[in-house]
Amino acid sequence: MQEPQEPQVFRFSRRSFLTASGGAAVGALFPTWPGRTGSIAKYHLVARPGRAHLVGAPYPETAIWSYNGAVPGPEIRLRQGEHVQITVENQLTEETTVHWHGLRVPNPMDGVPHLTQKPIAPSETFVYEFDVPDAGTYWYHPHERSFEQVGRGLYGPLIVEEREPIQVDRDVTCVLDDWRLLPDAQISDDFGNFMDASHNGRVGNTVTVNGRIPETFAVWAGERLRLRLINAANARIFALEFQDHRPMVIALDGQPVAPHEPAGGRVILGPAMRADLVFDMTGRPGERFGVTDTFYRGLEYRLLDLTYEDAPPLRAHPLDAPMRLAANTMPERDLATAERHEIAFSGGMMGGMMGGGMMGGMMQGMMGGMMRGMQHSGIWAINGVSATGHVLDPFLTLDRGRSYVLAMRNETAWHHPMHLHGHAFRVIARDGQPTRYREWQDTVLMAPHERVEIAFVADNSGKWMFHCHILEHQAAGMMGVIRVA
Ligand code: C2O
Ligand code: CU
Repeated sequence: MQEPQEPQVFRFSRRSFLTASGGAAVGALFPTWPGRTGSIAKYHLVARPGRAHLVGAPYPETAIWSYNGAVPGPEIRLRQGEHVQITVENQLTEETTVHWHGLRVPNPMDGVPHLTQKPIAPSETFVYEFDVPDAGTYWYHPHERSFEQVGRGLYGPLIVEEREPIQVDRDVTCVLDDWRLLPDAQISDDFGNFMDASHNGRVGNTVTVNGRIPETFAVWAGERLRLRLINAANARIFALEFQDHRPMVIALDGQPVAPHEPAGGRVILGPAMRADLVFDMTGRPGERFGVTDTFYRGLEYRLLDLTYEDAPPLRAHPLDAPMRLAANTMPERDLATAERHEIAFSGGMMGGMMGGGMMGGMMQGMMGGMMRGMQHSGIWAINGVSATGHVLDPFLTLDRGRSYVLAMRNETAWHHPMHLHGHAFRVIARDGQPTRYREWQDTVLMAPHERVEIAFVADNSGKWMFHCHILEHQAAGMMGVIRVA
């Protein structure tokens, strides 16, 4: 069996792409979003085609699908405990919904077509309304044909500010994405092809931060930065390394974690995952440091440079202020009484159910053909079941208020970022070893053949999606429904 051909990152020359953007702080790209009335925050999102300068001159703009014409969509910024009303207008030519990734919202607001709501038809509007119980870094995206809708640019950050924020000099949101562009800088329309679906998903060739190929990120000596990283890519996993800097991880998937340096100095983010970092900028004015992504061996590349402004340091010594965030509101599970369920993940190339000669034949038959929008069910499975179309029937029913441990076994040769809707869970063990930080997550990255145990209280009633966030894997069967009743 042949290894997939990893498309080269940055097939375009970054130099030729970069013009006047150098030096601009990424944070400055987000205007503040107006519209707050009393204690109800109001937002209006229009899903519609748009154009974006992903690449820059001399290349043309890229035709995208967007919220309000831009990628990422507007940053929704709320305060913890606030009530929000978000009107979504569909100006696409196909159905859509919006899912508030990581937010523990009531089930009818979760944005899963057919399962929690009727999809929003073209030219229709739907109003989402909920409270935000937890602070943190979240994001929003469609849940209808997400492998194409997200892949064309429909996503945006959603930030919930703490009641008592930690002290930093700047709070910066960085939404990472990965695009598969053609030489004319337009999005390749080979969405949902069999090759991507059966391997590591639609890994592209152009990485953007906040909708453009980054060159530099300007910092000031002595400042303390809070960096909110969001991976909005369909399939690309990032492992970010910061030359000569020691970021502290203070939250994962929006949920506070004991501040710690990332293992091996690498911040690893699977699709849909987030990390909040606190950075003390310890370099000197005028210095320059690389940020590299080293996840795929042999395909490492420099994402951008941290460039220190030629200005006197903001302070002589790093800020001496606490960086630990106050806990959110998830109930603690009771491990002694927790009920345990085993979940096995199988499929894919070189995996169990699709291994051997049958795959070879299928590959020859199907490869090369563009199967746009097609759902290749049968490629991946959860507990032996490969989901087709819209899944409605739960494979697991949990009692509301009870503690659960899900012992997940990745029997495939691929990474899978597994996401559970409506809840956050603690990652308590990997390959039988207790995790050091028992981190709360809503999306947990499973390495090939890894065993991962997660624990949580099923405290949010409804039917919740549980799926791989490599969007091609999800569409190709790696999803199911967990019901809390
Ligand atoms: Cu971020 Cu079910 O999705
Ligand atoms: Cu997967």
